[in-house]
Amino acid sequence: MPRLRIGLIGWGTVGSALGELIESGPLPLELESVAVRDAARERSRALPDGVRIGLPEGVDVVVELAGGVDGPLGWARETLATGLPYVTANKALLASHGDELSRLAGANRGALLASASVGGGTPMIEMVEHLAATGQIESLRGIVNATTTYILSAMGEGRSYADALRAAQEAGYAEADPSFDVEGRDAAQKLAILASVAWGRWRGESEVDSSGIVGVAVQPGETIRLVAQATRERMTVEPIQLQTSSPLAAVAGVESILEVVVAGATFRISGPGAGGRATAGAVYADLARLVAGERPILFGGAS
Ligand SMILES: NC(=O)c1ccc[n+]([C@@H]2O[C@H](COP(=O)([O-])OP(=O)(O)OC[C@H]3O[C@@H](n4cnc5c(N)ncnc54)[C@H](OP(=O)(O)O)[C@@H]3O)[C@@H](O)[C@H]2O)c1
Repeated sequence: MPRLRIGLIGWGTVGSALGELIESGPLPLELESVAVRDAARERSRALPDGVRIGLPEGVDVVVELAGGVDGPLGWARETLATGLPYVTANKALLASHGDELSRLAGANRGALLASASVGGGTPMIEMVEHLAATGQIESLRGIVNATTTYILSAMGEGRSYADALRAAQEAGYAEADPSFDVEGRDAAQKLAILASVAWGRWRGESEVDSSGIVGVAVQPGETIRLVAQATRERMTVEPIQLQTSSPLAAVAGVESILEVVVAGATFRISGPGAGGRATAGAVYADLARLVAGERPILFGGAS
């Protein structure tokens, strides 16, 4: 079987872990090129030997693990316009331009895959896709942002917001600028992607009513979490007090959880929502579908 030539953009936490998987995993894949911002920078995982460093050219699939919207939007348009598959973990891109990109993929017989954009290594999009087939999904509910779980659970143990945020930053759960997570944008983007798949109509981040956790009060012993919820009509991301018996209350660390209610039955999935190796595993699973000859288009039925 000919090897699928990969043009990878990004050699950071996820990209470098994917590079290792491409080398050690079972699929017939070849890393043709790797693009980074600064090729001279010292890195914990060195850039691969014998691989061209630069943006993809002459490849079979482009994998974007860089982040941001402006650069990726141009790369995605260019890739999909030529009918090549585009694989990404970029929730911000999909929650802002997912409809345009899926139409472009459809018009050019390309493919758009993004398993890792929601739930990190946990196949949440796949579960929703599967359950959406009957057209009977009633609601989605989940916890999809680890930074806020860390902060809110520390506050439930008696810490102030400022203390809990500092601890989250020291533990690597929060960025130096935490606003994207604590204002609920990360969760809102993920929810918009899941809801688009669930109900067959693309919905962007701007359609989510989101309040984040800044200024929220948590009494010691309370279990408050940033909960993302959607029905066909409404998407919300807000701090909610949970019963300790709720499966959502048990989520800790980088874990994410999603519940999908279909015709009165609840389906539930949880697993690592972040981390290089786990997230790269989801990207690798997307590549497995391409190797098998599938050409899936995320939101293909939803644009
Ligand atoms: N980390 C996670 O656990 C996780 C989980 C789920 C989804 N994601 C998503 O996965 C994507 C990557 O995340 P990450 O954590 O791996 O990011 P990261 O560690 O910051 O790595 C980003 C990589 O992209 C490169 N890059 C950035 N802008 C570029 C540009 N304009 N041209 C070429 N290369 C560029 C960077 O180059 P330099 O190395 O030279 O700076 C770096 O190698 C993001 O969309 C993120 O939301 C991440």
